[in-house]
Amino acid sequence: MAVVSVAIAGAPYDVRIETGLLERAGEHCRPFLRKNRVAIVTDENVAAAWRTKVEASFAAVGVVSNWLILPAGEATKSWEQLARVIDWLLVQEVERKDNIVALGGGVVGDLTGFAASMVKRGCGFIQIPTTLLAQVDSSVGGKTAINTPAGKNLVGAFHQPSLVLADPLALDTLPLRDTRAGYAEVVKYGLIDDAQFFEWCEANGAKLLAGDPSARETAIAKSVAAKARIVAADEKETVGVRALLNLGHTFGHALEAETGFSERLLHGEGVALGIVLAARFSARQGLMSGQDAARIAAHIGGIGLPSSMKALELDCDGRSLADHMLHDKKMDAGTLPFLLMRGIGQTFLAKDVDLGEIGAFLDEEMAR
Ligand code: GLY
Repeated sequence: MAVVSVAIAGAPYDVRIETGLLERAGEHCRPFLRKNRVAIVTDENVAAAWRTKVEASFAAVGVVSNWLILPAGEATKSWEQLARVIDWLLVQEVERKDNIVALGGGVVGDLTGFAASMVKRGCGFIQIPTTLLAQVDSSVGGKTAINTPAGKNLVGAFHQPSLVLADPLALDTLPLRDTRAGYAEVVKYGLIDDAQFFEWCEANGAKLLAGDPSARETAIAKSVAAKARIVAADEKETVGVRALLNLGHTFGHALEAETGFSERLLHGEGVALGIVLAARFSARQGLMSGQDAARIAAHIGGIGLPSSMKALELDCDGRSLADHMLHDKKMDAGTLPFLLMRGIGQTFLAKDVDLGEIGAFLDEEMAR
């Protein structure tokens, strides 16, 4: 088993990564439970795939599990479902020192974590992420949120989990498209500050997507270790270190907004194309070599993720795409910090990027 420690001051926790961990969830959670019952929040897809095994694993250590099963999908990250989760947790008589369990992808993790941040002014929670995106990104680092009519993830809290259990086997019950989209976040860690890991991705990405257990475990452990390092240095994204995790996200978010946050472009697919655009824009500005930008696009495209704007067939111009960025939650006193690259593994935060220039670049990209 790989164990990564997230060294948050005052609230450190472990991320445990192992194939088959879901069937042993009860055993791993037991030391974190003060009672012989636990409240588990999940969604209907995850419950259909895993409830029997997870419930049995808790029963095996003398713990009765009570389940709240939410509708699957992004729409669940709403005020309505948040209220439902909180009310249910209160009926379960969850106390501040209890740990509840979030079993599922980013939607369940973000929503349940946010509910946990509020119940009794903050109770404990354990993340058991079941998608690649949640395993390598959203379950670690304590960002929790819901979506509102004003935008995605605009209302939330920093609330760190007590433990994270990541089982690569969970990916077997998911569509390949979802896992591939999550893989964009894996590549991101190589590009931020670890050129060797990017090389590993080039050599092993296809194996990982084909289900190779060792490639999956390595990718999750390396990604979580990178995220843990960054989050420990800048838990609340105040000193410009955690912002590195947003590589590809500003372009990606604009593309997601333009495509209506729909199945047309999954979040990870937006991040993948966003990373390619950040690389090409960096090359256009003379910051990184055209060869490095082409190498990044070749890996992302080669793995089956979107690497060009053409295929999206957007009905807008570059400036209106760039305008979506004005609503980005990273806007800071009228400027938008942008993640650009000086090379593979050399991402940095640029604060002086002109949106007009981004618009012109996007026009060029749409015409390519
Ligand atoms: N997903 C970006 C972060 O956790 O900061």
